[in-house]
Amino acid sequence: MPSETSIFQPPVNISRCSYICNLEEYKKIYLESINEPEKFWSKIAEQFHWETSYNHKSFLSYNFDISKGPIHIKWMEGASTNLCYNLLDRNVKNGHADKIAFYWEGNHPDDYSKGLTYRKLLEEVCRFANVLKTHGIEKGDRVSIYMPMILELPIAMLACARIGAVHSIVFAGFSSDALAERMVDCKAKMLLTADGVWRGEKPLFLKALCDDALYKAEILGHKVNKCIVVSHFKRVSECRQDFQSQNIPWNEDRDFWWHDEMEDKESACYPEWMAAEDPLFMLYTSGSTGKPKGVLHTTAGYLLYAATTFKYVFDYKPNDVFWCTADIGWITGHTYVVYGPLSNGATSVMFEGTPFYPDNDRYWQIIDKYHVNQFYTAPTAIRALMKFGEEPVKKHSLNTLRVLGSVGEPINPEAWMWYYRNIGKEKCSIVDTFWQTETGGHVITPLPGATPLKPGSATLPFFGVEPILLDDGGNEIQGEGEGFLVFSRPWPGIMRTIFNNHPRFESTYFSKFPGYYCTGDGARRDTDGYFWITGRIDDMLNVSGHLMSTAEVEAVLTEHSKVSEAAVVSRPHPIKGESLYCFISPNAGESFDRKMIDDLKKLVRERIGPFAQPDVIQCAPNLPKTRSGKIMRRILRKVATNDRDIGDTSTLADENIVEVLFANRPENI
Ligand code: PRX
Repeated sequence: MPSETSIFQPPVNISRCSYICNLEEYKKIYLESINEPEKFWSKIAEQFHWETSYNHKSFLSYNFDISKGPIHIKWMEGASTNLCYNLLDRNVKNGHADKIAFYWEGNHPDDYSKGLTYRKLLEEVCRFANVLKTHGIEKGDRVSIYMPMILELPIAMLACARIGAVHSIVFAGFSSDALAERMVDCKAKMLLTADGVWRGEKPLFLKALCDDALYKAEILGHKVNKCIVVSHFKRVSECRQDFQSQNIPWNEDRDFWWHDEMEDKESACYPEWMAAEDPLFMLYTSGSTGKPKGVLHTTAGYLLYAATTFKYVFDYKPNDVFWCTADIGWITGHTYVVYGPLSNGATSVMFEGTPFYPDNDRYWQIIDKYHVNQFYTAPTAIRALMKFGEEPVKKHSLNTLRVLGSVGEPINPEAWMWYYRNIGKEKCSIVDTFWQTETGGHVITPLPGATPLKPGSATLPFFGVEPILLDDGGNEIQGEGEGFLVFSRPWPGIMRTIFNNHPRFESTYFSKFPGYYCTGDGARRDTDGYFWITGRIDDMLNVSGHLMSTAEVEAVLTEHSKVSEAAVVSRPHPIKGESLYCFISPNAGESFDRKMIDDLKKLVRERIGPFAQPDVIQCAPNLPKTRSGKIMRRILRKVATNDRDIGDTSTLADENIVEVLFANRPENI
């Protein structure tokens, strides 16, 4: 097994023709980006259309030090542009009208598949922008989107961007409660969804769930007046022999079919010119206090950063085919299915299904079908696919691949090696990209032709990014060492605020260490200056690449009428990376039984979504607390992993609790 000392040089065939061919070149450009950020990013800005040009003097202004005033980040103030115009009209004008923007691949190989050119995408986007306008959507309005991976999703996003509306996408695996909470928080004027979708063999009826969410939002005090629905389930099911028509719940006053609305709309729509710092979209991410945070990204900086990271990190060349498997409902899908590729005039694959259906070689089959050159996925998917061995992989050539990406959580060296050997055939570069919803794009990442790789390390910072490690006291660690990963200056893609809650933005990210943006992750720097992300240092955990907070799950568990207290910790999981291990104190006189466990799991699925379902729920008649009443999660983590080496327990109010907790561990876990 490779260790930290294993170094994999970039394959020669890749270095030879990549944008950045070696480490020296990377270092030179990196230093330029750090020493003269205005010059560096304004050069990049030249390729885009600016309706009002930018001024070099006011290219960047920011304050990261809360003691000196409000936190703010502004790039390219004074300039105006439109994201949709840059992604579509500009590419069409530059001769790419007939180039494929997306190859859409359905859940089942026998479902229809489709290629959408830049010209056609622009027309569809304009028509839908006109639909939005007809329904009264204006610049600055929020539009919630709860859709599967269908082409109408990027069309809807870009239509919002075209007229200056702010999209707020909620991953279509979230529950109706979670969707309702998010629609209320952003005061959505409209909801966009689909009738349903097949996920493997399972039909999911999204419209019914949306009806539930719209009802719950109204109870919570916010009425969403319009809902536009894509008839997707029907069109896909009609290809299948087993089609049965479904009754889609409908409210005549509120609901509209997408295809009806599009029918008479013009395929041209003048773009709304947006100020550089006008909002582009918001996307909710888990917060350590439980309530999700609406991370807000703005126009010009996000465009520059999505475009630049996409180009260099995937070394995307004009005739390549790129494929990011992430759902658009997460930031990876926003930046690397939609904004990054389209801003480069790229062709990419958009896939509706799962890696395991109808067989475990579905990903490899799609790579061959579309001659994919860059493939970007998550460690949890790699680990799940490794289980099936090499046979499913060997059925396919995979010889078009050049760059393999990984995102969402640390990739363990074993999975890295499997990816490198079996998928990349030792001829591809692996880019382990570290970033967050908040960072907008990759911040620590290798570049395919330049960076020697160490399995498990995200390696070095991207252009314009200056990572710093701090110790507990907030002192900068120089050279080798481990500490809190922070940034002392902004890059163009960093978030600007939490929607409607700037104080929470300041306290979450800038109060722990004044002067720094705090990622919430720990990291180690080795002798070569390489970064190794060690995981969250707050009460967050990463289940299959989905970030959630222990507080969020605890709040749901304690809603149960028979639960008095709950504490949730993370337990390592071979495929998911981490899993939820929950300790429950039942109310006095209540018994802890199978039914309670099932009810609690169901509650978490309902409140958050199926991906948040706990793996283990164990009874804890009492939780281990300090004398001041703080739960000692360190001890709970030891119980979860059955590790008797629990260290010092002298600060516990009652040390006997520890034995009871070990004795109560469920069998066979
Ligand atoms: O803990 C880090 C982990 O995922 C967190 C961000 O999650 P989210 O905002 O949902 O965005 C995920 C996709 C960008 C980070 O704080 N993380 C993400 N990528 C990596 C990672 N941890 C280690 N290595 C990575 N490559």
